[in-house]
Amino acid sequence: MDAYRAALLRFDELDQPQRLEDALLVVSEGRILAAGPFAEVAARHPGLSWSDWRGRTLAPGFVDAHVHFPQIDVIGSPADGLLPWLENYTFPHEARFADPAYAAQIAEVFLDELLRHGITTAMTYCSSHPASAEAFFAASEARGLRMVAGKCLMDRNSPEPVRDDTHQGLRDSQALIERWHGRGRLGYALTPRFAPSCTDAQMLGAAELARAYPGTWVQTHVAENHDEIAWVRQLYPSARSYLDVYDRLGLLRERSMYAHCIHLDAEDRARLAASGASAAVCPTSNLFLGSGLFDFTAARAAGFHWGLACDVGGGTSFSPFRTMLAAFEVARLSGVTLSPGELWYRHTLGAARAMGLGDRIGNLAPGHEADFLVLDDRATPLLARRTGAANSLAEWLFAMIVLGDDRAVSAALAQGRRVSGRLPA
Ligand code: GUN
Ligand code: ZN
Repeated sequence: MDAYRAALLRFDELDQPQRLEDALLVVSEGRILAAGPFAEVAARHPGLSWSDWRGRTLAPGFVDAHVHFPQIDVIGSPADGLLPWLENYTFPHEARFADPAYAAQIAEVFLDELLRHGITTAMTYCSSHPASAEAFFAASEARGLRMVAGKCLMDRNSPEPVRDDTHQGLRDSQALIERWHGRGRLGYALTPRFAPSCTDAQMLGAAELARAYPGTWVQTHVAENHDEIAWVRQLYPSARSYLDVYDRLGLLRERSMYAHCIHLDAEDRARLAASGASAAVCPTSNLFLGSGLFDFTAARAAGFHWGLACDVGGGTSFSPFRTMLAAFEVARLSGVTLSPGELWYRHTLGAARAMGLGDRIGNLAPGHEADFLVLDDRATPLLARRTGAANSLAEWLFAMIVLGDDRAVSAALAQGRRVSGRLPA
């Protein structure tokens, strides 16, 4: 049993953020046994000893709803929008992940970077090569992380080095499910890249596998970019909408994550909500590629689940602080003000719920897995000034969102064990 005395950030029963200035977090066998005011928790556990981390804040690990592992070295590749970016930078780079040794090396770099920024769970695209998924799962397992990932399916309209074969891609996905889904804390996501890069036969096969293995996830992209949408309209002239293509093929379901969801209409949003599917909102990517602005008002009205995501390499930073700030700025452009508490929720418990994992991760509550961060709200001189002058939790959270970065994440722990950074002395 391990216990830590520090400030603690969590979400209450109404999903409102709460900061306890003097708290005790008790961890046993990788899970949270108790979390609450220091005096109360200490009294309930006589004889307990603890590490004194006062001055730091314990917070739930960030959850990222959508990111591409083979794109870490694609960040910052400028292009005239999504399709030229895929063709000129992304596909050629992803071709390298056919090499298992290279994939294994980059999986470590990628996980180092996620954890350094405080992301302890991510819904992750691998490349189309099974070796890339093998490498990602093996590296995640070795670190004891909860990760969801899949090899992407792409059997058409893609250059040969990244294109898979319709049925071989499905057989490879099934073999990866058998080998990795449910092993440790790992989960498999069937990953049709996006409708233009998958034949109907392949998407139908993915939907069939998702039904055969109901605990698996589905992830794909939808309604990100106008040229992409025009292409889908050409390929599917009789579909009501881009989202409808996936719906007809059986891919819209609970435990499915639709990245971007920018250019949807009211019927699409209602279908998302009714199906129990979720959206991954990727503001730094949408700004960088000029894809568009997610409609937070319409999302709220429709009531579908959504979580924040970095979408590296389209996204420009792994940092949840940068992603939350970008979401805030994009919402402001349409006259909506997202509260700092909601922003934080959407990158922790809200993103976990969008993945169907809200009972396990995303909060510091008894029974949750002990994936948490040690935050330093004095990591830089200006951050120290702003957090020090905060008169409310909202002001404190906002100072962290606007001024925080990886330096504010002193350490990350998964199942109660350090996986990144340095623990306080
Ligand atoms: N659509 C299809 N593939 C991709 C990708 O790799 N990144 C983004 N942002 N959109 C996509
Ligand atoms: Zn993406």
